[in-house]
Amino acid sequence: MSREDLDKAVHLLWDGRLVAFPTETVYGLGADATNPEAVARIFQAKGRPATNPVIVHVAGIEQARRYTTDWSRNAQWLAEIFWPGPLTIVVPRAPAIAPAVSAGLDTVGLRAPRHALTLELLRLFDGAVAAPSANRSNRISPTTAQHVLEELGDRVDLILDGGQCDIGIESTVITLCTPVPTVLRPGDVELDQLRAVLGRVDVHPRFIEQETPASSPGQHPLHYAPQTSCFRYEADEYPHVVQYLAEHATSPIIMLALNARMLASPKHRVVGMPNHPPSYARHLYCALREADASGTSAILIEMPPDEPEWFAIRDRLTRATVRL
Ligand code: TXA
Ligand code: MG
Repeated sequence: MSREDLDKAVHLLWDGRLVAFPTETVYGLGADATNPEAVARIFQAKGRPATNPVIVHVAGIEQARRYTTDWSRNAQWLAEIFWPGPLTIVVPRAPAIAPAVSAGLDTVGLRAPRHALTLELLRLFDGAVAAPSANRSNRISPTTAQHVLEELGDRVDLILDGGQCDIGIESTVITLCTPVPTVLRPGDVELDQLRAVLGRVDVHPRFIEQETPASSPGQHPLHYAPQTSCFRYEADEYPHVVQYLAEHATSPIIMLALNARMLASPKHRVVGMPNHPPSYARHLYCALREADASGTSAILIEMPPDEPEWFAIRDRLTRATVRL
């Protein structure tokens, strides 16, 4: 990404156009959050339902304060400690932010991303950039500029290439607009880190009820999902896997597994996943994309342990799969 690209990006944003940019989590599809027509273009390009609010990106605390009617002490602490970084803070929305950004809610999710060039872009733009992940709605978030091109092609006016995203999964979202601060989406900033700053922090019940019945993929609230049928299993459910593989001995199947296993059929392939949560997160969406593009008939994913450092990854896997 050159200086020229940055200048071009700033002008496009001022003009109400769409610019995809890198962050430390995933690539974002950005537009001026104070311009309703520009915001409408985001929803159109992604095919995103108008009921799903979009995160607003700012260069830092000074800008964030302009876009909320209540920058509380808690917001200040969180921003001082975790920004720039993978934490979105939901606060009351100021009138300057187009209501469509927040799907009509009177709140707004704000975040300063930890990516030098994008921070420079946000400083030069000197405003609020609404940016969901730069993928078609419900598809896998992009972690390289090439992924953005595959997802959106000419639906975006400019794609800034900042290499591969460092973290690889979307930011933690916390709302300060509930009586007790509540995590709405787990991410790289963990619950314990938030509790160390705020004291009590709740987790939205959606993430506690992780068990979903083995229903048809169509009935599952799939998100971040490949187009290939995608199943998950816990490490101790391996006997189910053996049975499944035996029943599908002649079908191509890819397994994303932490533990390498012997496979009977040459049609079946194991992709080893890193046993370290940050490395796993960094590789996850690439691995899913590659498996999806390989023409396999099913993707089987071994769930990592049910432990706090795997919480965000288990959330994404749960939403991309059904139980085997
Ligand atoms: O890491 C990220 O956050 C990436 C990069 C590009 O910054 N962005 C991202 O945006 O993941 P998006 O639009 O795909 O995620 C939006 C999610 C919503 O589904 C919702 O969970 C939460 O963020 N959110 C945004 N604004 C909110 C609000 N006002 N109230 C509650 N939740 C909100
Ligand atoms: Mg998204």
